[in-house]
Amino acid sequence: MRDLIVKLGGSVITNKAVKESPRIDVIRSLVGIFKDRFRVLIHGGGSFGHYVAYEVGLNRRPVSFEDALKVMKSMDRLSNIVLRSLEEFNVKILLMRPREFVINKELRLYKVFEDVLVKYKKRGANILTHGDVVVDIGRYNFSVCSGDVLALIFARIFRPKAVIFLSDVDGIYTKDPKRDPSAKLIEDISGSELVGAFEGSSSTDVTGGMKLKVETIKRISEITDVYVLNGFKLDNLKRFLSGDDFVGTRIRKE
Ligand code: ADP
Ligand code: IPE
Repeated sequence: MRDLIVKLGGSVITNKAVKESPRIDVIRSLVGIFKDRFRVLIHGGGSFGHYVAYEVGLNRRPVSFEDALKVMKSMDRLSNIVLRSLEEFNVKILLMRPREFVINKELRLYKVFEDVLVKYKKRGANILTHGDVVVDIGRYNFSVCSGDVLALIFARIFRPKAVIFLSDVDGIYTKDPKRDPSAKLIEDISGSELVGAFEGSSSTDVTGGMKLKVETIKRISEITDVYVLNGFKLDNLKRFLSGDDFVGTRIRKE
């Protein structure tokens, strides 16, 4: 049954250390594992979008159309690779780019042109989308709409059984596991407890990025269950899908 929204994190499907380096085998394996389960597949930017975004100053200063277009083209190169994998597995899926249905204001989501998404849902479409550059009606001209925010947008419309975030670590920890060996994996928690787990900790190494991610996950957990799992541990993902014991973070719907 196609009952999931899956977000492939940029840190999983690309090598963030090298500009525009896709992990094609990882993409192929993940598409193979989830191919019959996702209704909406979302991918991040990793060393594609983020790299070029940094070069042109996106989200830090106003950018020209030409510079925004450079980031869009970079995301297109990555989404073409993901699409090719989907085609190899004969998945029937429609690519919808957020630049065509999202507007931001001062770096935050402002408006979603939902009607077309709702109609595609009613007609049974499966959707591929990705973190993207969108028009910003504030000072910046253009800004980023992340894959995490897209997971929230699509969860509202598609009402999936669960939203799955695939990351390069085992789930959400009390602190950044790459920096702090005392970080503990949070296994099962409600959305509101999750935000507290960070705010209540004395840790200052939770990046703005992670904080925003956690806040978005909390909002999604008002709609459906959310899981954060390691995108490199394929056997664990298969266990998760078949209902067996798995390692990861479950954020319960409240
Ligand atoms: P992606 O978009 O690929 O999923 P992100 O960069 O948004 O990746 O988030 C994953 C990264 O966040 C991990 O590599 C991890 O080092 C970092 N991180 C920081 N704080 C935490 C935390 N408390 N729990 C889990 N990961 C964290
Ligand atoms: C990034 O999307 C898109 C651009 C920078 C244009 P995400 O924010 O969802 O990407 P990852 O998953 O963190 O790499």
